[in-house]
Amino acid sequence: MRFNARYVGLFAAGLCSLSLMAAPSNADQTPQPVEPTIPPTYEDVASIIANNCQICHTGGEEAVAGISLDTEEEVVARAAQAFAALDIGLMPYGDPEFRTTPDGIKLLGYLKSQIPLEPAPLPTPAPTPPANGPAN
Ligand code: HEC
Repeated sequence: MRFNARYVGLFAAGLCSLSLMAAPSNADQTPQPVEPTIPPTYEDVASIIANNCQICHTGGEEAVAGISLDTEEEVVARAAQAFAALDIGLMPYGDPEFRTTPDGIKLLGYLKSQIPLEPAPLPTPAPTPPANGPAN
């Protein structure tokens, strides 16, 4: 009995280290968002926002609807809301066709790229399994 239990224990330990070794490849299988092209950067869209949004959305708390889009931080903080407003043709105010123009498409691509993903991206590289078997 004692002899068998010892081998069962070794076998179980082997399974544990196998599953630890498999952990990094599981991380590789996590679905990643697929973007057809590299999204535009803030620099790419800053002038589009200046020409089409800051006319109204400028000046901090004084901005139209209280929505200021003067800085990258302000735009990123509103990315999801601005994407939605643009995507349904609500913004720019009174210009529902803007979203179909090259500038509109570029701005939509940028805003979409700034919306936080669920779940949050995994840190890379994956943690290395402990050399001496499971810690817990
Ligand atoms: C001509 C002025 C004007 C321009 C230009 C304009 N907006 Fe607006 N925006 C408004 C007004 C007015 C409201 C409030 C609308 C309402 O509450 O119905 C608003 C509301 C919004 C909101 C909040 C919408 C909501 O209810 O969730 C967002 C986000 C927004 N604008 C983004 C933008 C972006 C991005 C642009 C540029 C592509 C833009 N706006 C251009 C006037 C403007």
